[in-house]
Formats: sequence, C-alpha cells, structure tokens
Amino acid sequence: MVASAPVTPAATAPLVIGPVVVDPPVLQAPMAGYTNFAYRQVVREFGGAGLLATEMIAARSAIWLETARGEHPDRLWGVRDEPRPLAVQMWDNDPDNLAAVGRRLAKDFGVSVVDLNFGCPVRQVTVKAHSGSWLLREPARVGEIVRRVVEACDGTPVTAKIRLGCADTCRTAIEVAQRIEEAGASCLTVHGRVAAQFFSGRADWEAIAEVKRSVSRLPVVGNGDIDSAETAVARLTGHGLDGVMIARESLAKPWIFAQTAALLRGEPKPPEPTPEEQYELVLHHYDLVCRRFGVDRGTMLMRKFACSYAQGLPGAREFRGRVSRVLTQDEFLGVMRAHFPGRPGGSEFSQADLSKIAGAV
Ligand SMILES: Cc1cc2nc3c(=O)[nH]c(=O)nc-3n(C[C@H](O)[C@H](O)[C@H](O)COP(=O)(O)O)c2cc1C
Repeated sequence: MVASAPVTPAATAPLVIGPVVVDPPVLQAPMAGYTNFAYRQVVREFGGAGLLATEMIAARSAIWLETARGEHPDRLWGVRDEPRPLAVQMWDNDPDNLAAVGRRLAKDFGVSVVDLNFGCPVRQVTVKAHSGSWLLREPARVGEIVRRVVEACDGTPVTAKIRLGCADTCRTAIEVAQRIEEAGASCLTVHGRVAAQFFSGRADWEAIAEVKRSVSRLPVVGNGDIDSAETAVARLTGHGLDGVMIARESLAKPWIFAQTAALLRGEPKPPEPTPEEQYELVLHHYDLVCRRFGVDRGTMLMRKFACSYAQGLPGAREFRGRVSRVLTQDEFLGVMRAHFPGRPGGSEFSQADLSKIAGAV
C-alpha cells in the first residue's frame, strides 16, 4: 500500500494543560478494561498520541486498598515508571476521597495529569455510587470536587471528562464546564452524547463546540465517533476545539494517532499496516499482556483485543466467534494460526513466532 497524498498542514497549536504540552493535541481516551499498561505500550510504540490515559480507578477502593493492605490498585501497575506524559483518571463523588487519591497520584506517582471522571454512564458507577455522569445533575458539586482536587494536587494539572448531560432532559454540560473552569481545572474533555445514550446515536460536535464557546480560557477537547485520521483532523480544525480524543477506533487501529499526527504535520498519511504487520502486532500485544498479567489472565484479556484488531479484516466474524471462547494459550495460538488473515509462512507457527510470546513453548 502507498501513503496517501500530502494534505495542507492543519496549523494546529499544541494543547497546553498546565505545565504539560500535549503535542499533537490528540489524546488516547481512558477505557476501563482496555487502556492498561500493555495497550498503552502499543500506542506509544506507534506514536502520535500527545497524551495517554490509564483506565479509571475508583478513589474509594484505592484508599481502602492502601489502608487495609498497603497496596495500590492493579490499574496503577507500571504508572510510576512509564514514560510521560500520562494521565490517570479516577472516579468517586466524595471530594475528600478524590483529593486524597489525587494528592497521592500527583506526589508519589508523579503523574502528568490527574483526570476526573464525570462521564461514566455505567449503572455500577451512576445509580449505585452516584458518581461519574450522575454528578452532571449537580454542577455546583462537580465544581466543589474539582476545586478540592486542584488544591490537593498542588500544581499537577487536574482535568475533567464529561458528557453533554445525564439525559436529553438534563443537558448541563455548559453549566458544568463553567463550574469546572472556575474551580481551576486545566482542561475539559467533552464526549458529545448524554449519558442515557450510552453509545447510541451520533456524537454531537456542535454541542461540544458550544461548550467550548461558553468558557473563557479552559481548553476543551472533543470526543466521540472519530473513526479515521481524516475525521480526527476535521473535528480538530472544524469546531474551534483545542484537542481531540479517540477511544474505540484506537482499539482496532492503535496506529490512528500516528496517522493523525502525520496529517497534522501536513505529511502523507502512513498506510494501514499490512495483514502481515497486523498479525505481528497481535502477537506482540499478546506477548505484552502475557508478560504483564501472566499467561492465563493474559490469554483471557487478549480475546477482546484480538476481536478489536480483527475489525474490517476478511473472516473477522468467524475469527471473533472462535477467539472469544479460547481458554488457553494453545487455543489462542491455534485460532490465530487457523484464522488470522495474512499470516505469513503457512499453517504452523514457527519457532520465531513462538519465541516472541511470553510463556509459549
Ligand atoms: C470499553 C470502554 C471503556 C471505557 N472506559 C472509560 C473510562 O474508564 N473512563 C472514561 O472517561 N471513559 C471511558 N469510556 C468512554 C471513552 O473514553 C469515550 O468517551 C467514548 O468511547 C467515546 O469516544 P469514541 O467514540 O472515540 O469511542 C469507555 C469506552 C469504552 C468503549
């Protein structure tokens, strides 16, 4: 495949989040269950994401874990030593909990950005814990939480991620954004849906732009339905925003950040990896998860990543059906061997293949 023709440079400025320069202003979204250490390493290897984010952590359980067991959430594994810039996201509805964990993240973990989740629509977080997007019905409370966390983080920038509101009848994003700005946050990400939509319908980028116009100095990052590098550039340049964030598409195409960065530099878009390269990537990712989580847990985790990678490839449906049921490394490798399109070198794994995967014999 050849690279696409050069485009005109998009002339976008880096996104400045307190002392952190996010260049390019294209962010990897936090995704619970996905944006773990291994996935972040894959994204970093491709390059092009100006800021990476962890999965969200629950502040209350982080405090309990530390007090009762002297441990930190598993999701913070690797965070201390990982390259920067890196944002850690947390959720709760109690300013004391969030301030305590924010201080820990800023001081002891030295993270670049502490991010607050006010967008999660999942029942466990909303109805059961009155957190995440549930808090969008109380803009003043969101402001108070942000103020307390900003104080506690003492110079480490604090950011927030919201949706447009809880439901169509409760579209509070503008008021919430203004409270977040007054409270001293350094950036705001807006996912252009209300929580009641979960992922249905289309993200409303005009509503995101309206939020941006309603604040005076707060940088605003838009998020929702970016499905290609071209869309990322169009969203960034067409709505007066300071940055864009990509979530689901980057699970299928972690190279989307590098492609977007190239377009923003006015360079041709790097081609999609060939099927052979994608095959190598799945094995590489599998190796990273096995090293990080052990072979058993790594194999279970890799099932969903393999499903994401298969998006758009021939035979994807059958591959997904089989890979999502594997229980062992042998089974995983067997399905890869049988199905993954474009795998070079016949039907057997070579020693060279296997030597790349932790725990494979
Ligand atoms: C599996 C999954 C997990 C997610 N977990 C989080 C999370 O932990 N924190 C958060 O702020 N958003 C989370 N999101 C929402 C995404 O960050 C993003 O806002 C949303 O997917 C819209 O962007 P997209 O259209 O590019 O996917 C999650 C989304 C998905 C699909």
